[in-house]
Amino acid sequence: MAPKKKKGEGKKAGRRKEKGFKGPGKILAYHDEEYWNSRYANQPEPFDWYQSYKELKGLFEMYLPKDNKILNAGCGNGMLGEDMVRDGYLDVVNVDNSSTCFDQLNLRYKGNKDIPSAFTWFRQDMKDLKMFKDFSMDHVIDKGFLDSILVSIFS
Ligand SMILES: C[S@@+](CC[C@H](N)C(=O)[O-])C[C@H]1O[C@@H](n2cnc3c(N)ncnc32)[C@H](O)[C@@H]1O
Repeated sequence: MAPKKKKGEGKKAGRRKEKGFKGPGKILAYHDEEYWNSRYANQPEPFDWYQSYKELKGLFEMYLPKDNKILNAGCGNGMLGEDMVRDGYLDVVNVDNSSTCFDQLNLRYKGNKDIPSAFTWFRQDMKDLKMFKDFSMDHVIDKGFLDSILVSIFS
């Protein structure tokens, strides 16, 4: 006789959880440029969500050749792109649609001779792929997604 399943076990357990799932709630604001503008206005210092380059470096070395063209999608005002080009990546394109974030990147990098020219930044909505019609990327970094992957690899 099959062992009796404990409460919460078995195929239906996940489904029961989904049924009670009320949706993303506050996360809905994350699609809104104004939300990010006000966050960046309140927090102008460079801030890396999720992992920083130090933690990601090993993974990047496995999959991202340094001479490839890399898109950092929804880059924010963190240090990832800068740290990558300082470590020898030759073409890192940083894209974010928040105007406040873009102003902060301009302030930090425009005319700054200390930042390698391998680092470029654009204000662009990642949902509008027209920007990419004239050039292609070898890799796209979605750091939020990598965060989930790393948690599953190392936990
Ligand atoms: C959680 S933050 C992550 C920032 C950065 N990738 C990091 O890991 O530190 C999400 C970023 O995505 C940007 N973003 C949200 N929707 C976007 C869109 N449609 N196109 C481009 N960037 C977007 C926001 O402005 C914000 O900077």
